[in-house]
Amino acid sequence: MMPSPQLEDLSDPGFDPFVIEKLSTGDCHDPYPQIHALMQRGSVVEGSYRSQFTSVPDVQMGHLPQVMVLGYDAVLHVLTHPEIFTNKEAFSPNLGRAFGNTVTVMDAPEHPRYRKIFQKAFLPQVVSKWGETVVDPVVDRLMAKFLPHGRADLIEDFTHHYPFQVIYAQVDLDPAQAPVFHKLAIAQLLSSIGAPQGQEASKKLGDFFGALVEQKRAKPGTDLISHLATVEVDGERLPDDVLISFLRQLMNAGGDTTYRGTSVLLTGLLTHPEQLKAVAEDRSLIPQAIDEALRWEGPVASTFRYASVDTEIAGVPIKKGTFVNTVLASANRDPSKFPQPDSFDIFRSRTPRHLAFASGPHLCIGQHLARVEMTRALSALLDRLVNLRLDPDKPAPRVTGHILRAPEHLWVRFDS
Ligand code: HEM
Repeated sequence: MMPSPQLEDLSDPGFDPFVIEKLSTGDCHDPYPQIHALMQRGSVVEGSYRSQFTSVPDVQMGHLPQVMVLGYDAVLHVLTHPEIFTNKEAFSPNLGRAFGNTVTVMDAPEHPRYRKIFQKAFLPQVVSKWGETVVDPVVDRLMAKFLPHGRADLIEDFTHHYPFQVIYAQVDLDPAQAPVFHKLAIAQLLSSIGAPQGQEASKKLGDFFGALVEQKRAKPGTDLISHLATVEVDGERLPDDVLISFLRQLMNAGGDTTYRGTSVLLTGLLTHPEQLKAVAEDRSLIPQAIDEALRWEGPVASTFRYASVDTEIAGVPIKKGTFVNTVLASANRDPSKFPQPDSFDIFRSRTPRHLAFASGPHLCIGQHLARVEMTRALSALLDRLVNLRLDPDKPAPRVTGHILRAPEHLWVRFDS
C-alpha cells in the first residue's frame, strides 16, 4: 500500500487558530433579542450583521454598502433568487480566499454543472450506508474514552471531534495527522480576517489534497476521494482546482457545522429534560428533535449574497453592489412562522421548513449526512449514557457566537 501524503503543520506550530477563531466570531451569548429588535424595524435594515455584535473590522467587505435581510419571507426571497443575489462576489474575497473555487463561490452556469457531481456523492441512499460503516466506529471510539467515568464534557470529549473524524475516515486520512488537519481546517478560515496563517493553511491543505487526488487517480479505492477524482458526468471530469477547493471546504462545511449542530441538539435536550426523556423513550422523535435544534440554534446564523442588479426586497430598494447579510437565524425565529420562536419544542410543527441549511440552489449538500451523523451520535449517547443529565456541579451550557454558534462546554453526568 502506498503511504498517504503527509500534511505539513503551520510554520509556527504554537499558533492556535481555535483561540483566534473565537475572537473573530465574538463571544455573543444571545444574539436573539437584538435580532428581534432589528426585525421590528423591517425586513431590510442598513448595516452589517457582524457589526451588531463585534468590533472586529470586516477587512474584506467593509467597503461595500451593506444591508441585513430579516424574517422568513425576505430571507427565502434572497436565497431563491440567485440570478439577482449572487454568491461569487459575496464569497470570493472571504471563503474563496480560504477554499478556492468551490461551489459556494460559484453562480450559474458553473455552479449547477459542478454541484450535481458533488451532490451525487452525498445523496441520502449513499450516506445512509456510512452510518454503520463510518459514523458508528468513530462514535464508539470516542465514547469508549469517557464511558467508564460517569461524567464528561460532551463538547471537548465528543462533539468537537466526531464529525471531523467522520470526514477524515472518508478521505482516508492517517489518524496520526488528525490534530494538524483539524487545526489547518480552522486556520484556513482566518484568511477572512486577514491573518497570514489563513493562506498558509489553505496552501498546505491544497498541496496535501493535490497529492492525495493524484494517488487515488493512479490507484482508485472505494473511498469518497477516489470517487470524486475519477467520476465523469456528461463526459467531464472535475477540474483539479474545483475538486481540491471542495475538499478544503468539506473540512469546515462538513466538520465544523455538524459539531455545532450536534452540540446545540444536546444542549436543547439536556436543558429540557422532559423532552430528552421523550426522545430517549421513543427514538422515532429524533428527526424532529434534530430539526427543532437546527431551527432554534442553527449553527450558521447568517449567510451572505451580493446584489448583482438594482432590485428590491419587501418593497425596499436595494442598490446593485450591496452586500446582503441574509440572516438565517431571523428566519428561524420569525414569530409569524414559528409561534413562541425562542422556545425549544421538539413537538412543534415542522412546517414551514427551517432555513438552517439555507434554501435555493446552494441548499446544504451535506444535510443528509449531517442528519445521519446527528442521529447516530444521539442514539449512541442515549443507549449508553444511562440517566444522562447536566452536571449540577458545573455551569449550565451557554451557546455563543454571532455567526457560527455552539456551546463551549456541555458538562454531563451519567450512571456508568
Ligand atoms: C448541521 C450541519 C450543517 C449545517 C447547519 C449546514 C449549513 C449549511 C448552509 C446554511 C449552507 C448554505 C450556505 C449558503 O447558501 O450561503 C450550506 C452549504 C453547504 N454545505 Fe452544509 N451544513 C451542515 C453540514 C454539512 C455537511 C455534513 C457537509 C458535507 C458534505 C456540508 C457541505 C456543504 C456544502 C458543500 C455546501 C455548499 C453548497 C453550495 O454552495 O451549492 N454541510 N451548509
